Amino acid sequence: MDYRRMPIEIESPEQLGYDKIKCNLTESSMPDMKFDALGVDFSDLTLAYTDHAGDPELRQMIAAEGEGLRAEDVLATPGAAAALFIIATTLLSARDRILVVHPNYATNIETPRAIGCGVDLLELRFEDGFRLDTGRLRSMVTPQTKLISLTTPHNPTGTALSEAEIKEAADIAEQAGCPLLVDETYRDMAFDGPAPLAASISPSAISVSSLSKTYGLPGIRVGWIISKNAALMETFLAAKEQIVICGSALDERAAVALMRRKKEFQAVALADIRRAFEATRDWMASQNDLEWVEPRGGVVCFPRIKPALDIDIDEFYRILNEEYGTYVGPGHWFGMDRRHMRIGYGWPKPDELAAGLQNITRAAARARRKST
Ligand SMILES: Cc1ncc(COP(=O)(O)O)c(C=O)c1O
Repeated sequence: MDYRRMPIEIESPEQLGYDKIKCNLTESSMPDMKFDALGVDFSDLTLAYTDHAGDPELRQMIAAEGEGLRAEDVLATPGAAAALFIIATTLLSARDRILVVHPNYATNIETPRAIGCGVDLLELRFEDGFRLDTGRLRSMVTPQTKLISLTTPHNPTGTALSEAEIKEAADIAEQAGCPLLVDETYRDMAFDGPAPLAASISPSAISVSSLSKTYGLPGIRVGWIISKNAALMETFLAAKEQIVICGSALDERAAVALMRRKKEFQAVALADIRRAFEATRDWMASQNDLEWVEPRGGVVCFPRIKPALDIDIDEFYRILNEEYGTYVGPGHWFGMDRRHMRIGYGWPKPDELAAGLQNITRAAARARRKST
């Protein structure tokens, strides 16, 4: 494995220091939950190794969200990040190729690259509304393709796939004889209601998700893999056992507590997301320097400074960061032009979001090159 640190991790707010940031528009999750809000009692918990596949009640509650899924089809992992790592290292080798959408959450591309596998990028273009072109997806499959990898709702663009699009991608994967990975980490924040779990649609599909984003729980590392392919799940379990043996007893108890009250937490989150999304949409409509594809889920969008504008992009980020203490996810975090930026609108408080958005407008105006 050829590991290297990714800019999105090196430059993340937790590495920079939260105290240095006035307006934090970098996050892709809802505000981090306080421990007390979960109301979980650990006093009787024995700190033993846990069930290697994950707490049975937790897996049962996760499976109950997909038609025809059983607890055995679910493997708990330390976050969605570990789920993606397990899947990539199980299915890919240096002789193989992955077909993966770009831009993307960096790990979805970086781990296959670190394995040494050939990476075919299926570009999502601003001009196409960042829509997945399933015709292009089909045409890019080769005999070496060992995994097709999609993300919905998508990070960083906030676009979402329909059930029909997921089904078509699953058909393409089935015909290619390879699994379809659907990273559904933002599924509970889909504006039009969640699409069915991919793993419930097709035996070729593998669903990945976690509690990090919608519930603001990235500090408990609980995510999961879902697949109806029992042989594959056994191999994923072997991988998990070699990495961590089992999940943390503390994390899994907290995850069970969240899942029991999930509907209640989700309703509050969705109402907050709607307000933050509307504030962001109003801001977009009020300014002239950036354009966007309106998101359909999650808490991020991926606007860009209009290509025709003569704006010094490095100066824009310098002013934004150093003078206004405002941070967004610059395009290079996602292997994209730095005119693009990911704005996380769900994490900051309303005042912080409003100030941060205004600071983007001000920094863009100040970084405009004077015509001679
Ligand atoms: C699409 C996507 N998948 C997976 C992850 C990993 O999340 P976690 O490991 O906290 O569940 C992230 C985090 O940003 C993400 O955006």
